[in-house]
Parts: sequence; structure tokens; C-alpha cells
Amino acid sequence: MPAGFTVLHASDFQCGKPYLSRATDALLELWSEVDPNVVIASGDLTQRAKRHEFRVARSILERFVDTPVVVTPGNHDVPLYRFWERLIDPFRNWRRFTGEDALDTVTTVPGAVIVALNSAAPRRAIVNGRIDDAQVEFARRAFVESAPSNVRLLVIHHHFVPVPDGEGGHPLPGAARLAHAFSDMGVDVVLGGHVHQVHMHVAEDIPGCPPRDPPLPILACGTSTSRRGRGVETGWNSLSVMRFGEGKVEVIPYRRAPDAPAFEAMPARSWLLRDGLGAVN
Ligand SMILES: [Fe+2]
Repeated sequence: MPAGFTVLHASDFQCGKPYLSRATDALLELWSEVDPNVVIASGDLTQRAKRHEFRVARSILERFVDTPVVVTPGNHDVPLYRFWERLIDPFRNWRRFTGEDALDTVTTVPGAVIVALNSAAPRRAIVNGRIDDAQVEFARRAFVESAPSNVRLLVIHHHFVPVPDGEGGHPLPGAARLAHAFSDMGVDVVLGGHVHQVHMHVAEDIPGCPPRDPPLPILACGTSTSRRGRGVETGWNSLSVMRFGEGKVEVIPYRRAPDAPAFEAMPARSWLLRDGLGAVN
């Protein structure tokens, strides 16, 4: 792991009617300042999975010049109202957008391996999503084949921990079992979105999930570029910067007030990481 390995975590761009281009300008300014090793966009890149909305999302991602970008679909990236498309080929526009058939992906960058699992289940559970056993196994294989010294990041759009104000609906079914499995794989941080406000939890905050050692941070990002912020972030935007090093990860949430020109840092939190992370192979 390179010293100070840095992730910029954004989410829920919602390109379409709720999209705010001024928030994108602020996002890009922060990206330029932070110079992260990777950018992660954890789903709902569009509002209604339309081709022109994906084109706007693409134009945002293309501005992270020379920075690897990892994306995963959210429930808004499949058609909600175009019934036949949702039934027959719900990821058609997503696949055009990414240029890939695969919905679950592994991205390796120097110092980290990032597994992104598609939790959008357009035919079964369009709101609160699904992760199945084959996807858990996909993640396990990817992490097992990666050096233990690499940061292991898992990206899933839907949330694991109930939100106090109920936003985002019920959490991902089987969240406690999934968190347990991901922790056993040595996942260092789980990153998601969907609830439109920053939430920083650990696995044991999930009902029925025992404490893990080291703790498994599960971090939800708000909407980085739309007016769909919820709860304390109503009308606001958010994202997070996380820095790995010296046996810990420090997470700095950023928020942007309505019409503000820039994102502002909020109080940071940090968690200890597993032994061996960052060791010389
Ligand atoms: Fe969502």
C-alpha cells in the first residue's frame, strides 16, 4: 500500500432532473486538491437510467483525468417505469455506459483491490436491493487472490444499517450475514450510498451482527451532485475522503451547503486496520 493511499468516495450523482452541475464543479475542485489514488462512485449515477442521463454521468467521470474510477449500479440505474425494459434488459443502458457486460467487477490499482457488487435487483427488490451467495463468492475469490498488503475495498450501493429517520427503506436483506462474511475476507471498508446522507457505522451496528476485530467500517455517502439530500443533508451534498496509513484509516466527510461554491470538511473519524495491511510482500 503506498503511504497515504487516498480514496475519494462520491455517490448518487442522480444525473437527470435533480442533478446540480455546480455541485460537480465543487466535486472536481476537491478532487484536484485531494489528488486521490482512486475515485469511487457508489451507484445511482442517474435518476431514471436514461441514455442522455448516462451521457452526463460519463462526462463527469471523464473529468477525473488520470484517476482510476470505480462505479457500481444503484436502483436508479435501472428503469423504474419502463416496465418491459426493466423486465427484459434492465441493465441495457448501464452496460452501454460502462462498456462492460459484467455488473460485478474487480479493479486493482497500486496498493488496493476494489470489488464492486451490483445490489440493484430490478425484478425482485428495486428499493432495498439484493446480494446473493454467488456474488459473495465472487468477492471472496478476488480478495483471496490479492496480496494481504493491499487495501481491500468493497462497494455496494444499498445500505447495511437502518437509518434513524427511515430514509432509503429497509436495509439490504441479510446485512448482518453479509458483513460477517466480508469481514472474514479481510475487507477493510465497505462503501455505499442510497440513503442520501453520510452515515459512518461499523458492522456491529447492524442488528444481529456481533463485534468484529478489527471493526469493519460501513460508510454511506450522501448525494454528491443532486438536490436529493435527505435528513440533515436536505438540499445539501456530501462525499468522503479516506486516507489509509500507519495502521488506520481516517475518513473525512465533506458537505456542501445549498448554493455554496465548495465542499467543507466535517469532523473526521478513524478506525484501526487489520495486521499485515501495508506490509512489504
Ligand atoms: Fe439508491
